[in-house]
Amino acid sequence: MNTERTRPRVIRDPGALHREVAELRRGGKKVGLVPTMGALHQGHLSLARTALEECDVCVTTIFVNPAQFGPSEDLAKYPRTLDADLDALATVGSQIAFVPETDAVYGPGHATWIEVGAVAEPLEGQCRPGHFRGVATIVLKLFNMAGTDVAYFGQKDYQQVQVIRRMVEDLNVPIQLRVCPIVREPDGLALSSRNVYLSPDQRQRAVSLYASLCHAEKMVASGETRADRILAAVEEILLEQGKGRIDYVAVADPETLEPVEQITGETLIALAVRIGETRLIDNCLIQPPAG
Ligand code: PAF
Repeated sequence: MNTERTRPRVIRDPGALHREVAELRRGGKKVGLVPTMGALHQGHLSLARTALEECDVCVTTIFVNPAQFGPSEDLAKYPRTLDADLDALATVGSQIAFVPETDAVYGPGHATWIEVGAVAEPLEGQCRPGHFRGVATIVLKLFNMAGTDVAYFGQKDYQQVQVIRRMVEDLNVPIQLRVCPIVREPDGLALSSRNVYLSPDQRQRAVSLYASLCHAEKMVASGETRADRILAAVEEILLEQGKGRIDYVAVADPETLEPVEQITGETLIALAVRIGETRLIDNCLIQPPAG
């Protein structure tokens, strides 16, 4: 199949993107932004699909942001698959791919960073110091460069969404945020660009993340309210079934991300686990039974 014709148009220059989006919006078009680091999978494509259902034009950004990787993280080996990404975007009809060079994003004198407060501190913030400073900075830059009406993010990066929400509210950023559900493999593994690193054995063990969340959900549905019991059960599955190394498991308030001891309303369960050398994250929102 020849996908060339329907591939998105690649724009590399931030100024050109800004002019193009402004022109579209002046013409009455609604424009959506799907920020990604490439290595696109069905999770990203579902964001683009939703953007296209709700907007006239979908701009997908592909930029591996060095500022959100720590010194010991996988920046150098992060998958870069631009050709395949453009083909994948052709299948959903995203019209524009914004693929800036690193120098066009972080110029030689770049010295301004966005630090989001408390919500960026626990969980990922604790395990990956500086990560959300890099995320918030690039996301605000992408919002400013593109100037779209709406931006689409996945719930898989739950804390990232909360950090971006906080930033948008605190800095009066004129953009609407939309959060889309986690897309999973048939066996429950959440789609992630990092899944390609898993060996067949690790891939099987990685299902333990979803299995542990489902188990937590069942415990709560059958009346368990104590966070410590849920944490212990989740950790046991991750260690025994997944043979994983746990970075964290949290039972937390879905907005502040502060730990909760008793589950009395909607609650976040979030986890990060290393299966072999691959760090995977997952989460779910649970509700105690009514009454
Ligand atoms: O979620 C991601 O892929 C990245 O953190 C984002 C939002 C594209 C910023 O680099």
